[in-house]
Amino acid sequence: MSDINFNLEEFNLQLDTHFIGTNIYFLDHVESTNSYLMSRNEDFENGTVVIAETQTKGRGRLDRTWLSDPKVNLTFSIALTKKDLFTSPAMINFAASLAVANALQNLFQLPVELKWPNDVLVKGKKISGILMESISAGSEITRMVVGFGINVNQSNFPGKYLILPTSVKNEYRGPISRERILSEVLNLFEQYLGFLKFDKKMLLQSWKEKCRMIGEKVKIESGDTQRFGVFVDVDEDGFLLFREGAQTSKITFGDVSLRGQ
Ligand code: BTN
Repeated sequence: MSDINFNLEEFNLQLDTHFIGTNIYFLDHVESTNSYLMSRNEDFENGTVVIAETQTKGRGRLDRTWLSDPKVNLTFSIALTKKDLFTSPAMINFAASLAVANALQNLFQLPVELKWPNDVLVKGKKISGILMESISAGSEITRMVVGFGINVNQSNFPGKYLILPTSVKNEYRGPISRERILSEVLNLFEQYLGFLKFDKKMLLQSWKEKCRMIGEKVKIESGDTQRFGVFVDVDEDGFLLFREGAQTSKITFGDVSLRGQ
């Protein structure tokens, strides 16, 4: 249903996790759920979730803005505070984007694709983005915040976008429950964080199976720089292996697109 009010009880009934979402803050509005969890000096419990119906300063990767109509989509962030999760931060990105992709595939049979490092696309359009940030003390990470924006019931996206947006509503004809999507994403995210500790290869393999760019000629953009080459693979730490001529290098951030797009 695209009922305008988020039903926390319905969401809770479907939540099947041990630590993600046991502590939930449900906010009517906030600047940004990521900023909320990043800026407070509280000792957030591992897996604390902050959901907001409206973000007034939603943020995206690489200092971009994340726009989302109030009350129709999902904008939420999760605080991770257990150090054993921080061994491979980029893989947390993969766990998060794979959780969204598989939730949308399981619930609505959407033909989802993953774009490095963490966009979820349907038929080339962006349905979800993830912003991962961290707080460190010295060289040690003490808190990671994983923010999810999922376009659910929004049908129009005025404005300029790097990749055209879409939503579940635009791709699926049938009942849509934000509560069900959120619970499924959290259930899967917790499961995949477990893989990160015990079966990292399986997590990486599942992510790669949904990334259609591997092996393709791509363009990588960061700031004013553009590079052209081949997306060879992603390595065990989640970095992109990029071949230009005879040289292969590791890419840690940037925007990747198929050449010619
Ligand atoms: C991107 O694709 O650039 C990442 C978008 C991430 C958006 C989410 S919405 C919830 C959380 N709070 C924010 O300010 N950003 C993330």
